[in-house]
Amino acid sequence: MTDVRAGAGYDDGLIDTNSSANPTIQEIIDQRYSRRQTLFGGLSALTVATLGGMVTACGGDGAIVSSGSGTVVNAGSAITTRSGKAVTLTGSTANATAGNDAWTQVSGPAVTFDTRTGTTATFIAPSVSTSTALTFRYSASASSGAITADTTVTIQPAQIDFAAVPKNLNDIVTVPEGYSVTVLYRLGDPINTATPAFANNGTDTNYAARAGDHHDGMSFFGLSATGNTPDPANSLRGLLVLNHENINQAYLHPNGATTVGGARPEGEALKEMECHGVSVVEIARASASGTWSYVQAGALNRRITPLTPTTFAGPVAGSAALRTLFSPTAAAGRGTINNCANGYMPWGTYMTNEENWAGYFRRDTGDVAARGGATAKANVSLARYGIPEGRAGNYGWATVTPADAASTIYRRWNITAQAGAAADGTADFRNEANQFGWVVEIDPFTNTAAPRKRTALGRMNHEGCWAGRTIVGVKPAFYMGDDAQNEYIYKFVSATPWAAADASPSDRLATGDKYLNTGTLYVAKFNADGTGTWLPLIFGQGGITATNATYAFADQADVLINARLAADVLGATKMDRPEWTAINPMSGEMYCTLTNNSSRTVATTDAANPRAYTDPRTNGTVTNGNANGHIIRLRETGDTTEATAFAWDIYAFGAGSDLNPTNINLSGLDATNDFSSPDGLWFARPSNPSGLVSPLMWIETDDGAYTDVTNCMLLASMPGTVNDGGTRTITNTIGSTTGTQATRIGKAPGTSLRRFLVGCKECEITGIDSTPDGRSLFVNIQHPGENGSPSNITSNWPANQNGTAATGQRPRSATIVITKNDGGVVGL
Ligand code: FEO
Ligand code: CA
Ligand code: CA
Repeated sequence: MTDVRAGAGYDDGLIDTNSSANPTIQEIIDQRYSRRQTLFGGLSALTVATLGGMVTACGGDGAIVSSGSGTVVNAGSAITTRSGKAVTLTGSTANATAGNDAWTQVSGPAVTFDTRTGTTATFIAPSVSTSTALTFRYSASASSGAITADTTVTIQPAQIDFAAVPKNLNDIVTVPEGYSVTVLYRLGDPINTATPAFANNGTDTNYAARAGDHHDGMSFFGLSATGNTPDPANSLRGLLVLNHENINQAYLHPNGATTVGGARPEGEALKEMECHGVSVVEIARASASGTWSYVQAGALNRRITPLTPTTFAGPVAGSAALRTLFSPTAAAGRGTINNCANGYMPWGTYMTNEENWAGYFRRDTGDVAARGGATAKANVSLARYGIPEGRAGNYGWATVTPADAASTIYRRWNITAQAGAAADGTADFRNEANQFGWVVEIDPFTNTAAPRKRTALGRMNHEGCWAGRTIVGVKPAFYMGDDAQNEYIYKFVSATPWAAADASPSDRLATGDKYLNTGTLYVAKFNADGTGTWLPLIFGQGGITATNATYAFADQADVLINARLAADVLGATKMDRPEWTAINPMSGEMYCTLTNNSSRTVATTDAANPRAYTDPRTNGTVTNGNANGHIIRLRETGDTTEATAFAWDIYAFGAGSDLNPTNINLSGLDATNDFSSPDGLWFARPSNPSGLVSPLMWIETDDGAYTDVTNCMLLASMPGTVNDGGTRTITNTIGSTTGTQATRIGKAPGTSLRRFLVGCKECEITGIDSTPDGRSLFVNIQHPGENGSPSNITSNWPANQNGTAATGQRPRSATIVITKNDGGVVGL
């Protein structure tokens, strides 16, 4: 028996790393003969075989030996390993014959054999919570009958087990020794057979049939053998659904973006729009140990772009605030944009989330006056959502003069109220911004279904939307961050208790209607004593009324469109940029990355956002505020998603390991795990050992504070629980201003937090999921070389990922898949 070794970073004394040669059959025979009398004293029924009337035996592990005939069946020595490790059983015989399927399991938690051929059998050590022995039997037939030998595999609970990847500035994705990277799906890759291969020189067109840019949030959906229905257990074939948040504009054109006479060329603008949105693309693995590739002709392949028809559901559907020239009845929507993080809905759909949509809109100077002055509701709303007048709009799409004069796909990006146009918004695009800022549900398995904007979950800079645990009879909750400085954390609690049958419904979007159209949107308030409250955003309650002095709310639809203004009224806690949320599948605890906040000051810290400091760069410049971010977590009262109160602490604080350990590097990070600006956050799936017992939490970074030292990274952690640490009072200092702040900090993560991957130049690491078996990890590498241009290419990734220089190649955002060379569960 052989315990297949992990990467060279192996450091766990409990695991058998002895790879010396096993004893030869003759050595075993010699040993057994000498011990034979002892062995006879320790027989068990399972290890006795009869050969020609002669009893032979084994002590529990290893060889069965027949002394009279020289017949031997050897199951190898006992080993100790851990959950998630790949295990290979190797039998051998002399004067006996073992057929295929000779290995069987005798006792312990059932394993699924990957292979069971000839002398070997392989499997993944299953999840255990305490040391557990499994017995396996190797069977053969000799001239005189059947003969077997048993061996024991002792499995310890899972642990993080890889050598930390050092910080680096290399233009390649680095993973631990013993792991491999495959580039799977890149910007421009065609998703049907009619579309030509990507030239990657700026001449490519029709991105509605190619991978978009800036790969972000992502989920894997297992596909059945028919290729068009779900198989949640399939780890070899599935639909990868991923967001294309933004673009590296310059690389999309031969010599960068152009403007002619103040107008963007239509072809350039169309290309840039189509590079946004979402991909649904089939992927497949050749075998359990084979290579992953995307399926160019996949029947369900689909691009959703800012031009794709969408619909609205929930309280805002049909609201007058959604009326536009394109959608005069407010029924229709058009597209989705700046899709950041994701959600995997418990009924098998994908949630894409509209984040920095506000920046795309043009709003001409004079529009505030045209809409009735600064205190008019429309202007209060636009100001709160970050669209002041005088903005040109990202990429200038509204400047296009289309060949088809009737087309509104460019005009829509100008939300200026047009003189003389109807005040209700049906003759221009003054309301177009209200069509964005939503969570948007997509059924990956029905490529003709329009994405559905779920308005009950509020309008904001939606980073992501992650479901809490589903428990039959309990109303499920969906946790969301509003990513901007000093914005809030929200949760939506459905009005509908969970029913088990809804995990595999026939109509997935109808099931989304059932859980997401009716319920209560809450915003979080964090108290200094470690408690917290979910405050409901309900029209008519808590000052969210028509008499509110800042904004006269009209009804619940108005509250949801202006969720930020309603949350302001309730006194929610201003956070350091809430990004992804993640749920520990075992405990139900919710984690949220707070990526950074350069506007946090010594005077405005609070217990949940406690740090304000000066963060140095190697070039002598600094960032003030909370440059490195932290990860907060909460546990709902009564462990129920329906709770309106919670306990909280801070799991970890980002920091360079060289920073002040008393006031800045509060989690005691060192060279193996120091990081800045946590963004992506995801718990491993509970369908494999990495998501059970003590689930792995994966942390992805997107920073500008530590990129002088290292490219962005992915870390694996095995976090504890809320309140496993204590309280701490720190001293904040920026310049000559100092102040003390008490906070609540989890147990120092130590070696249970470890750097797993470092990205290529000028990239962000974001988007993450695995196959159900945890043996293939999908990660997105967003905007490599983002500071460059065609005349100054600053990254050649991924063309250079194989180690060969690819000078001149333009960088491409891409999905990679990471596998462990021995086939084990990634990270363990
Ligand atoms: Fe798209 Fe907040 O990251
Ligand atoms: Ca993000
Ligand atoms: Ca980001």
